[in-house]
Amino acid sequence: MSCSGMLSSNRRDMATTTRKPSSRSYMCFFLLLLILHFHLGKSQLQQNYYSESCPKAEEIIKQQVVQLYNKHGNTAISWVRNLFHDCIVKSCDASLLLTTVRRGVLSEQTSERSFGMRNFKYVNTIKEAVEQECPLTVSCADIVALSARDGIAMLGGPNIEMKTGRRDSKESYATVVEDFIPNHNDSMSLVLSRFQAIGVDIEATVALLGAHSVGRVHCKNLVHRLYPTVDETLDPAHAEYLQRRCPTPNPDPKAVLYARNDLKTPMIIDNNYYKNILQHKGLLTVDEELATDPRTAPHVQKMADDNEYFHQQFSRAVLLLSENNPLTGDQGEIRKDCRYVNAN
Ligand code: HEM
Ligand SMILES: *[C@@H]1O[C@H](CO)[C@@H](O)[C@H](O)[C@H]1NC(C)=O
Repeated sequence: MSCSGMLSSNRRDMATTTRKPSSRSYMCFFLLLLILHFHLGKSQLQQNYYSESCPKAEEIIKQQVVQLYNKHGNTAISWVRNLFHDCIVKSCDASLLLTTVRRGVLSEQTSERSFGMRNFKYVNTIKEAVEQECPLTVSCADIVALSARDGIAMLGGPNIEMKTGRRDSKESYATVVEDFIPNHNDSMSLVLSRFQAIGVDIEATVALLGAHSVGRVHCKNLVHRLYPTVDETLDPAHAEYLQRRCPTPNPDPKAVLYARNDLKTPMIIDNNYYKNILQHKGLLTVDEELATDPRTAPHVQKMADDNEYFHQQFSRAVLLLSENNPLTGDQGEIRKDCRYVNAN
């Protein structure tokens, strides 16, 4: 008998006689609690979570994101990548922002997957502005989420209505980052399964990769497609351009050698990315795979044909990503400084 049948037949019973609930209905109750428990985190996020505790929070964050963008446009790009690297690793909980502490935290930023990530110091600028208005109230996890939202808007992407109420982790997951974030040359099957594991479907995964419409890739992540022979899936003219940007197979790790993702609109989150990968001008192996894998190619085509449609899907996908398994209620904490777990 199902739980719902159980409950309705109990209701009928109670109308006639008063009986103690059976052990089976207790079981159903606990099952319900269990189900609730797994759905609660996500559903406890809400729009304008800080409307009473810190009414200006979202405005201050946006102000800071705009100010930083005006000084260093690439900060906005970093906020988008931060959302991905924070949220896909277990939870959107700002674990990414924890810095390495001697005999303490090992930062996720030290993972090979975090290669090229930048502008972390400006997260502190945002957090300080928020702390000044409302001490110990707004989580670093919500700053990761909202700065990504505002960064996307600054980069000509869609305006996304994002929920808040995430709390901050008390630990870093540095040792398991590679179990969650795919590598630049992983198979599309692996990429899709990593996203599916956090509830991001195939089309949403295709949309999220559209973030590679902005930003850069260091030669280190490209040279395997250029040397000793040029990857035959790469457009030959584009390969020549990339070889100019990355002239040697062993780039000096200290030299900042990189190529831009999108030469036409490098600072705009638009569907040019999909047009590029369809022309085999994607930089990463995963970008190229996205355009050719039969599971993803139809979505790539649709997004290449229609920027509006891409923006709709991108918004939907960013929300899915940003709501992955948040800490809520009395889980975690509100960090005072995004780089460190609170002392207590
Ligand atoms: C299969 C999934 C993904 C892989 C393997 C991947 C890998 C990479 C790699 C290797 C870089 C270049 C790093 C460098 O050399 O500096 C990069 C850059 C970037 N990625 Fe991804 N990425 C993936 C998905 C995403 C997603 C879902 C987002 C956001 C929604 C994202 C946002 C970015 C951004 C914005 C940059 C440029 C960063 C900058 O210029 O500072 N990526 N990604
Ligand atoms: C992917 O690239 C990494 C270096 O970033 C390399 O160590 C690894 O062998 C490559 N994997 C495949 C499947 O080519």
